[in-house]
Amino acid sequence: MTLWTFIGRQWTRLPPPPKGEYLKGKVVLITGANSGIGLESVKHFCTASPALLILAVRSIEASERVLAELQSLHTDLKGEVISLDLNEMESIKSLPSRLRERGIETIDILINNAGINPGNEAKPAEITKDGYEKTFQTNVLAPVLLSYTLLPFLKQTSSPLIKSKPKIIFLGSGLHATCNNQPIVDAVEREQSIVEIFNREEGFDNKQIYGRSKLLLHMFTRQLIETLVDTSIITVSPGLAITNLGRDFKMSIGFVIFGAPFMLLNARSAEKGARNLTSAVASAEQSYDYWAECGPSYSESSWLSSGQGVRASKAFYKEMIDEIEKISPGVTKAVVAS
Ligand SMILES: NC(=O)c1ccc[n+]([C@@H]2O[C@H](COP(=O)([O-])OP(=O)(O)OC[C@H]3O[C@@H](n4cnc5c(N)ncnc54)[C@H](OP(=O)(O)O)[C@@H]3O)[C@@H](O)[C@H]2O)c1
Repeated sequence: MTLWTFIGRQWTRLPPPPKGEYLKGKVVLITGANSGIGLESVKHFCTASPALLILAVRSIEASERVLAELQSLHTDLKGEVISLDLNEMESIKSLPSRLRERGIETIDILINNAGINPGNEAKPAEITKDGYEKTFQTNVLAPVLLSYTLLPFLKQTSSPLIKSKPKIIFLGSGLHATCNNQPIVDAVEREQSIVEIFNREEGFDNKQIYGRSKLLLHMFTRQLIETLVDTSIITVSPGLAITNLGRDFKMSIGFVIFGAPFMLLNARSAEKGARNLTSAVASAEQSYDYWAECGPSYSESSWLSSGQGVRASKAFYKEMIDEIEKISPGVTKAVVAS
């Protein structure tokens, strides 16, 4: 993506948030709903008459406050706050039973919104207690595992009596197209495991990991679209938006002089970023490889569509399926059986 494409996208005038009862009768589960784009999205959803809004979060108190505030404004809003930490695979694996304990059996729309950006300085890899590099786990592995784990809930909603397909939304980023993808290219050429390379401490590059994690996620979702034909899979790019995502950014002199003013000048509000997500929830009735500026769009990465990019995506998809099967045996069977 060139600088001008980025600026052009950022300055595109976005339509207002979708109106009407587009969530009537629908159960929505969204991760990371207490901050930034997730928080602004749930504010939009409250006006769309959802049957149930499930905030799956790790900050329980903050999210309970959010829900209480929303319910004071929308008195008929049904909501649940449920604990989910993407840095703990057990938390994902136990979610179905915890949802059933609350009488929740179906989900119409799953929004994998939670994510992290570990910042702009060189630092060693942080490894989660599950043994994965933290950004890889939070931004790639966990949303993939969560989606498969909740698939039985989503499948129940795809009955012919209900017109729309269930939806799974992933949050992408334009940085997937500008990051240095050499480790992925090298891995494909040498027939090495991409999952293994991204979870090694040696060679870890903190400044690149966010963009690379979003590229890996995109490689996966492109393949998922071909596999999960009964479900709408959409990768939404909210654009650069002012949220808490930059909480780990170090204010170096270079960043203060050049980076921060550029970002502030071109960034959208979190509410505008959220419109990209809510527009996909309201109007995307099929799978879309990329959704940006509130409509179907295209990935700026020409590599993704190259022969090598397609080969890499297929290989990575297969690796991820094997990896989540290791973490949660049998979790992908619902798809294989479909
Ligand atoms: N803002 C942008 O410019 C931008 C651009 C492109 C894509 N995105 C994507 O948009 C999504 C939302 O980000 P945002 O900008 O709204 O950032 P944000 O304000 O920092 O919100 C991120 C959310 O993710 C949650 N989260 C982080 N780690 C988690 C974990 N281990 N388990 C459960 N929840 C976790 C956070 O919870 P806590 O509050 O508990 O930490 C928070 O609710 C992310 O996927 C991000 O990559 C953002």
